[in-house]
Amino acid sequence: MTRLIINAMLAMAVALVSATTAFAAAEKVGAAACAGCHADKADSLKGTAHGKRLEAIKGVAPEQACETCHGAGSLHAEAGDTKEIFNPGKALGEKASEACLNCHSGDRTRMFWAGSAHDGKGESCVSCHKVHGGTDLLLKKKTEVELCLSCHKDVKADIAKRSKHPLRDSSSKTGEGKMTCSSCHNPHGSRSEKLIAAKSINDKCYECHTEKQAAVLWEHAPVKEDCMTCHSPHGSSNDKLLVVKVPRLCQSCHMQGRHQSGTLAANSAYATGRACLGCHSMVHGSNHPSGAVLQR
Ligand code: HEC
Ligand code: HEC
Ligand code: HEC
Ligand code: HEC
Ligand code: HEC
Ligand code: HEC
Ligand code: HEC
Ligand code: HEC
Ligand code: HEC
Ligand code: HEC
Repeated sequence: MTRLIINAMLAMAVALVSATTAFAAAEKVGAAACAGCHADKADSLKGTAHGKRLEAIKGVAPEQACETCHGAGSLHAEAGDTKEIFNPGKALGEKASEACLNCHSGDRTRMFWAGSAHDGKGESCVSCHKVHGGTDLLLKKKTEVELCLSCHKDVKADIAKRSKHPLRDSSSKTGEGKMTCSSCHNPHGSRSEKLIAAKSINDKCYECHTEKQAAVLWEHAPVKEDCMTCHSPHGSSNDKLLVVKVPRLCQSCHMQGRHQSGTLAANSAYATGRACLGCHSMVHGSNHPSGAVLQR
């Protein structure tokens, strides 16, 4: 509790310092003065978390709200000189995020922001959020998926493939949209690779595909190691999100045996239909007493 209070006090102190260092000669004039020329911007805050919750949570009175993000504005308010006011929308990377982190650095979901993939590549809070007139959660686009895909074109191509996680925009006619990117990623940073919002990639997969985590009598070694050895996360033109088609997938590791390697005759049971899976159907592991070769 004390720690929370100290954090809050620190955050406020930082807010005051950064606001005053940016425009040393300027003083605060209050939101009413700003609204005199920017009524639309003041209105756009009304229904949002900032409009409603700032005072309750951070002790910032509504009449100070503008200047917590834009810096003290008395010089700018004289004649609207844009050089005398800070606009996070035009600032770059870290500088823009600073205006937000003054209040948001203590949030648990952003513990790993500093140096994370987005921060490290010069993206900022305002790459994704729009404070004035954003949608739910102040996102810049209508939906989260649309937001992420606006930069990540490769993933956009993947989720249109034959096998995929149900990620396409929920407004699309296919009725997809049961998941979003943040079902698996934390765009604000994470302690694991690729912004995965779990201890590891496998742990993330187990959250929904729990049965794959269960202990089995006969394990298939690569499964507990890394699901990504055989699956791609977003989409694939092979069945079941597989990175390579069966039997080639299996043969990439099993080359020494008798029936499973070499060039298979085109009509061979080992190559056609479900190929290897026709007999080795328990590819994630088997619980059957005689399932040693994953066949039941
Ligand atoms: C006398 C009218 C007036 C007042 C008062 C005023 N502004 Fe402005 N402001 C302007 C004009 C004019 C512009 C430039 C045109 C535009 O972007 O709308 C501007 C631009 C801005 C910008 C964009 C700057 C940029 O680089 O694009 C911000 C942010 C801003 N104002 C914030 C504020 C804040 C915060 C206050 C209160 C402290 C305030 N304004 C008070 C007239 C005013
Ligand atoms: C929580 C932080 C925050 C608060 C509070 C805030 N703004 Fe902003 N403002 C921003 C950000 C971020 C942008 C960049 C565009 C965006 O995100 O909407 C911005 C952009 C602007 C602009 C430039 C608009 C443009 O089209 O480029 C003006 C003018 C402005 N704000 C005025 C105000 C006024 C007036 C208030 C108080 C009524 C206010 N802001 C309160 C963060 C804030
Ligand atoms: C003066 C403190 C302060 C500043 C500066 C600030 N915020 Fe906030 N923000 C808050 C508070 C308080 C809430 C409400 C939190 C809650 O309800 O738990 C909030 C909520 C949010 C939310 C959640 C919105 C929702 O609908 O739940 C987003 C997104 C957000 N802020 C983004 C930003 C961004 C981006 C910036 C920088 C441009 C910023 N904030 C600057 C105090 C601040
Ligand atoms: C790459 C895009 C992206 C960036 C960059 C980003 N956000 Fe977010 N933010 C989101 C998305 C998507 C959500 C909603 C899903 C979620 O909660 O993860 C969100 C949710 C939030 C929320 C509300 C829910 C929560 O987690 O508390 C706050 C507050 C917030 N962001 C603040 C920030 C701040 C502050 C920054 C900069 C340090 C930032 N965001 C940078 C995409 C982003
Ligand atoms: C404004 C552009 C932009 C938006 C919007 C954006 N990203 Fe990114 N993202 C980047 C950049 C730049 C990188 C750095 C890697 C690169 O160069 O491709 C990155 C990297 C990533 C990575 C790889 C991380 C790593 O460790 O390699 C993931 C995962 C990711 N983004 C997820 C998301 C998600 C989820 C969203 C939506 C909530 C999102 N991004 C929105 C620009 C963006
Ligand atoms: C089912 C979980 C899941 C969902 C949902 C998901 N991802 Fe991923 N994503 C992953 C995993 C796991 C990786 C790491 C793959 C690897 O390391 O081989 C990844 C990697 C990435 C990368 C880095 C790619 C690279 O090659 O380094 C980006 C960018 C990315 N995801 C963006 C997105 C976007 C955008 C969305 C939403 C449209 C999304 N992801 C939805 C699990 C997911
Ligand atoms: C948030 C829940 C969630 C997470 C996390 C998740 N999945 Fe899924 N997965 C689903 C849903 C929902 C489906 C679609 C099921 C359906 O359509 O019947 C699916 C389907 C699949 C399929 C079958 C695809 C097909 O074409 O039939 C595979 C393979 C798969 N997931 C692998 C993974 C892997 C690997 C991970 C970890 C990177 C993962 N999943 C993480 C929810 C999740
Ligand atoms: C050695 C390769 C391999 C690894 C590693 C692997 N899978 Fe699979 N997975 C497959 C194959 C092959 C299929 C298709 C099985 C079929 O069609 O009978 C499949 C199918 C699936 C399916 C859809 C059908 C089903 O069984 O529910 C899900 C979900 C799935 N895998 C999740 C996972 C998860 C989660 C992991 C990591 C814990 C993982 N897989 C690791 C090869 C693998
Ligand atoms: C990434 C490498 C890899 C891939 C891909 C892979 N396996 Fe395996 N597989 C292994 C390893 C390692 C073992 C354990 C071997 C051992 O204990 O001698 C194993 C064991 C097996 C066994 C049991 C054999 C035994 O001697 O216990 C069968 C059957 C099997 N795999 C079938 C498959 C099939 C079918 C596929 C394709 C769907 C496949 N494997 C894909 C690495 C792989
Ligand atoms: C017609 C059924 C059938 C098909 C199809 C099949 N297998 Fe097998 N496989 C078996 C049986 C039965 C065994 C155990 C007896 C044996 O050793 O021959 C076995 C054993 C194995 C083993 C354990 C090591 C060994 O050689 O004994 C591996 C690895 C294996 N198969 C991989 C594969 C791969 C990879 C494919 C696809 C190219 C495949 N199998 C297709 C029936 C099949």
